[in-house]
Amino acid sequence: MSVPIVRTVAELRAVAAGWRRSGTRIAVVPTMGALHEGHLSLVRAALQKAERVVVTLFVNPKQFNSAADLAAYPRTENEDAAKLVPTGAHLLYVPDADEIYPAGFATAVSVSTLSEGLCGAFRPGHFDGVATVVAKLFLQTGADFAFFGEKDFQQLQLVRRLVRDLDIPITVVGCPTVRETDGLALSSRNSRLSPAERAIAPKLALVLLDTAERLARGSPVLPMLDEARATILAAGYREVEYLELRGETDLQPLARLDRPARLLVAAWLGDTRLIDNVSTSPVGKRPGARRSLHGEAAK
Ligand code: PAF
Repeated sequence: MSVPIVRTVAELRAVAAGWRRSGTRIAVVPTMGALHEGHLSLVRAALQKAERVVVTLFVNPKQFNSAADLAAYPRTENEDAAKLVPTGAHLLYVPDADEIYPAGFATAVSVSTLSEGLCGAFRPGHFDGVATVVAKLFLQTGADFAFFGEKDFQQLQLVRRLVRDLDIPITVVGCPTVRETDGLALSSRNSRLSPAERAIAPKLALVLLDTAERLARGSPVLPMLDEARATILAAGYREVEYLELRGETDLQPLARLDRPARLLVAAWLGDTRLIDNVSTSPVGKRPGARRSLHGEAAK
């Protein structure tokens, strides 16, 4: 058995139109391939909401800052297609670059504010590339629902704002970060870690969780963030690009934890850039929020 693959917008639209005629709802799971359990969990969540699920696989050149990074990005279409079979996904859409960006392509979608700061400060143009391709994928699939992981939290909030601002009739669903048992957030970049780096990597998530707990109990934000940065570096990370406390939905910087928030980090371990985030709130403001890395997943 295999998941049917389409490569053109015309083929995709023909399949989706047939589904829509029979009254089925469609969910899309946008990916760049190199699928891991985090992506597969999005597909499973999508199948709970919609009768038909399209997974897109497109390594989007517009969201890479460096040609070397784009060239190094894993391309594993056959393996990805095989991994999707047991999930029950209905269609894999694998356009090539000319299909998405035909000659003379001149349009860009830009979500200001939410694309500034955090990853946006270190990856100029990245979120315009994401917003442009995501808008195209939404319009091409005509899906009712779109599923994104919370691991890319800034991306998730930006996509929510994009569909709101452009009145794209799609419901964006954020799904919890999937983690290894030691807490490391799943990422296609984890495969680049050496065994020694892999042993250090989970420290990032553990520091985030510990800091989030201490903030929730009332510890002052700026000293906590300084201490967390120092702990990450002492663990063996080469550089902390950012470690910030931001409002949960608007991603505004917070100097005091006075509402639901996210603690977000990007750090380099050797030559690998890892990102992660956890939620935190002042104690009492979000009763029942569970404070464990896997509890995040159960929120
Ligand atoms: O999160 C990703 O893999 C990509 O940014 C996305 C959403 C598929 C757009 O290319």
